[in-house]
Amino acid sequence: MTTSTSRRLVLTRSAALVGAASSSLLLTELAQAQSSKIRVGLMLPYSGAFAPLGVAIENGVRMAINEQGGKLGGREIEWFKVDDESDPSKGIENANKLVQRDKVDVLIGTVHSGVQMGIQKVARDSGVLSLIPNAGVHAATRSLCAPNVFRTSFSNSQPTLALGQAMVAKGHKKAVWITWKYAAGDEAFEGFKESYTKAGGTIVKELGLPFPNVEFQALLTEIAALKPDAVACFFAGPSGAKFIKDFAAAGLKGKIALYGSGFLTEGVLEAAGPAADGVMTTLHYSDSLETPRNKAFRLEYAKTFKMQPDVYAVQGYDTGLLLIQGANAVKGDLSKKPELYKAMEGAVIDSPRGKWTMSKSHNPVQDIYLRVAEKGENKVIGVASKALADSGAGCRMG
Ligand code: PHB
Repeated sequence: MTTSTSRRLVLTRSAALVGAASSSLLLTELAQAQSSKIRVGLMLPYSGAFAPLGVAIENGVRMAINEQGGKLGGREIEWFKVDDESDPSKGIENANKLVQRDKVDVLIGTVHSGVQMGIQKVARDSGVLSLIPNAGVHAATRSLCAPNVFRTSFSNSQPTLALGQAMVAKGHKKAVWITWKYAAGDEAFEGFKESYTKAGGTIVKELGLPFPNVEFQALLTEIAALKPDAVACFFAGPSGAKFIKDFAAAGLKGKIALYGSGFLTEGVLEAAGPAADGVMTTLHYSDSLETPRNKAFRLEYAKTFKMQPDVYAVQGYDTGLLLIQGANAVKGDLSKKPELYKAMEGAVIDSPRGKWTMSKSHNPVQDIYLRVAEKGENKVIGVASKALADSGAGCRMG
């Protein structure tokens, strides 16, 4: 045997040994991955203007998963949490805490559209499964859509696309629009403008203030001077209750009809008090939906968390339902991406809001209800838009 042949033999043998070792290592890793816990990351606001929304979403997610014995596709769960403070400037950094540091298998988040843009970048770069339980920013399921990103809530223009027609039908043809000036407010305006002008309404003025500012006084004075038939708005969280109360305190209630994207009256009716009575809104959920599914959900949520559920709790719950359907389809092995995505794309979510399906760009196709606030409840008046889908404009998966 020449030296070179023997060297080659040695090399081949060691390569085989390394091969065997690494394949058995691979098998052990695989077995570990199967039996180890699924790492679920929650990136939500637990402080700041949207803190109660983050809590409601987490409650909803946990409730859905607890109904399945606390497991996903047969595997236990390890939870990781980051408070994103609804601060867009920390969006990427916070998403990376979950993806790079904690190595989560799925990232659930968030509420604020600006923060969501940070998550979207991290999700697209890393390929991590990303479930959006609220933020409606259009790009997430339009130009920046991705196979690993699914939204279980709405797109920002979905609720307001159903609002304009309802206002004109009530004879309110001259309106002022007011909102926080950031993606959620601006895109809600897009939906409102389209539906209101198409129905024959005129928008006499667009007013705005920076998020999360709640100094409404000067703007309400301007509205009083403009004397429109109606005001339509996007605000959310406790600030929504403040807007409703300030609107009444400024003497506008009863003179100018108040409408909103339905978030205005979600989770805040107790805080807003009688000032909220008569406020009409459009949204993909209503407390008073008379279905066994909604009644059972509301009862269990109230019993478990000692508070009333709102649309955010429903969206969290549906995020849990979607994740369960996906995880069950791959028996807990979330690395089987094509199968996982296919199951989630085809999912029919039996939600307290009513059954909904996933559009091609991964946004809910859902009914939008017309509601009126009455004695602490969002009462459903009817369906303002049936099976409404977002346009998904510019979405190319792949
Ligand atoms: C958003 O920023 O996308 C957002 C926040 C709160 C809502 C709805 C949308 O209630």
